[in-house]
Amino acid sequence: MPPHQVSPIAKPDKILKLDGISAESVEAHWALYEGYVKKYNEITEKMAAADRSAANQIFSDYRAYRSAITFAIGGIKNHEVYFENLGGDGSGPSDALAGQIERDLGGHDAFLTELRAAGMAARGWAWLAWDWDWSRLDLYIGDAQDTFPVWNATPILALDVYEHSYIRDFSTARPKYIEAFIANVDWADVSAKWERIAKEL
Ligand SMILES: [Fe+2]
Repeated sequence: MPPHQVSPIAKPDKILKLDGISAESVEAHWALYEGYVKKYNEITEKMAAADRSAANQIFSDYRAYRSAITFAIGGIKNHEVYFENLGGDGSGPSDALAGQIERDLGGHDAFLTELRAAGMAARGWAWLAWDWDWSRLDLYIGDAQDTFPVWNATPILALDVYEHSYIRDFSTARPKYIEAFIANVDWADVSAKWERIAKEL
């Protein structure tokens, strides 16, 4: 199969002007995201040449590439949602999204309580996502780029809680970073992601 190649999204200017999360931290974090894109492209190139007939569950080139590629894809997609979600004033979702959050999660304050807890419970990510099969929003956590997402759910908000997200500005004080994230959520972006889903319902 021909290797599939991807490019990074354009870096939104808004993410370099956050309140409490420094531009230096965001720039360093963005470089990690670009690293995932670069590695995805490298893996797909190298995987094209891997011997399919030698595939083996204990070790094989094909296994190594297939395992690594899901990690790279997660690293790309998770960070794209995260960076797009930042750069607002945390003011709140659109009426339509607020209504869905009320229905599925019990309101905005209940959602924030859940997001804070998910952000502390996760080792990598907390997501707010729409489950197309069960027709509901819920919180999900992940311990790595490629762990715990469920089939047929679309994230509309992604909170990165890897230490690289906050160590520069907050040392190990993750709760302070989560509050800064909440204060900088671009709800126009989150609401637009929701609108794209709602249109299909
Ligand atoms: Fe990250």
